[in-house]
Amino acid sequence: MKPDTPLELLGGLSPAAFMKKHWQRKPLLVRQAIPGFRPSLSIADVRELVRRDEVESRLIWQDGGEWKMKPGPFARLPAMRRSGWTVLAQSTDAHDDGMAELLHRFRFVPDARLDDAMVSVASDGGGVGPHFDSYDVFLLQAHGRRRWRISAQRDLALEEGLPLKILKHFRPEQEYVLEPGDMLYLPPHVAHDGIAEGDCMTISIGFRAPTLATLARGVLETAGDQLMARIGEDAGLYGARPAPGPKLDKRYGDRGLKATSHPARLPDELVRAALEAAQRVKFDEALASRFLGQWLTEPSPAAWFEPASGELDLVRAWPLDGALVPDRCTRLIYRGSDLYINGELAELPAGSALRALADDRRLDCRGRHGRRLEPDELDMLSDWLAQGWLHFVPDA
Ligand code: SIN
Ligand code: CO
Repeated sequence: MKPDTPLELLGGLSPAAFMKKHWQRKPLLVRQAIPGFRPSLSIADVRELVRRDEVESRLIWQDGGEWKMKPGPFARLPAMRRSGWTVLAQSTDAHDDGMAELLHRFRFVPDARLDDAMVSVASDGGGVGPHFDSYDVFLLQAHGRRRWRISAQRDLALEEGLPLKILKHFRPEQEYVLEPGDMLYLPPHVAHDGIAEGDCMTISIGFRAPTLATLARGVLETAGDQLMARIGEDAGLYGARPAPGPKLDKRYGDRGLKATSHPARLPDELVRAALEAAQRVKFDEALASRFLGQWLTEPSPAAWFEPASGELDLVRAWPLDGALVPDRCTRLIYRGSDLYINGELAELPAGSALRALADDRRLDCRGRHGRRLEPDELDMLSDWLAQGWLHFVPDA
């Protein structure tokens, strides 16, 4: 995706202009972001999807003015003619290729930030109430109409004791009725309330925004794994080559220790030794990217990979007439020559053509990148094919 090419999806803005003017700053309404949009899942498909155990779903409705929520799966849902209910299905991109393709239209934002495509199906009057989200969201109208009211209000106090987040004082400032193909982008913390007008389906393209505490803990845990792996006491959380760092294999010693009359007191020397050892850990970009690469590519809990039926040895068979395509559930991220795939680290030769597989989510075997692959890389690819992380698509 070229950052400077105007996109219909963004109302004629280029991704670069959208990121500069709107991303994390202000809402954007795009009429006919996808003209003639036909979602890959129908309302009936979503009703079917939320019957499944592996699909995270919630049903939301009001009972005598009181908000109610029930987690799925749902063997039965209310009829569409019963007004005022909504069912939400999370991570539909893990269950449906069309939804994954839709999510990928938003890859002008890095994969590290893209989260999932959630689908809501609502009957007339249904909605999840006035609330705010802590994440950016693109709300794409997929079926029927939804009336969105939004507000930049500062007062984000929530009603207490409810099963979902509902604003105490919602003061709408703008109102839009979205038709299929229309889309509303909202940055984090913009108050909003969307109410279905008739049978309605909305797709939310959501983003990952970990708290700084989560990031810090991840780096600390990776540092901890690295320390133990380096002295051979633990294979490390992910079983990968240990991240760079010190080898603290010497044991604490206290020659010259004096006899004590307070045996229960913690020795100061031991406290200082623990602190000094911790201070030898190097918090650098290599450590942080190791944590992020592995963590961000951990498959979603909804992911399922079907191992390949027959083995394909690419080293012998290369080049094939076709392309390699990551499974819709495969997560790929790289930094320098470290490629992370589904929580695992693959070390690439310098300038590897495999980074193109991650960026393009496709690698033409006889194309510019395919022709440059080395036997080690073909070995890795064979492995990923066998696990169902990649698929081979023959030329038509
Ligand atoms: C919905 O689709 O009903 C809710 C989406 C949202 O408000 O974030
Ligand atoms: Co919301």
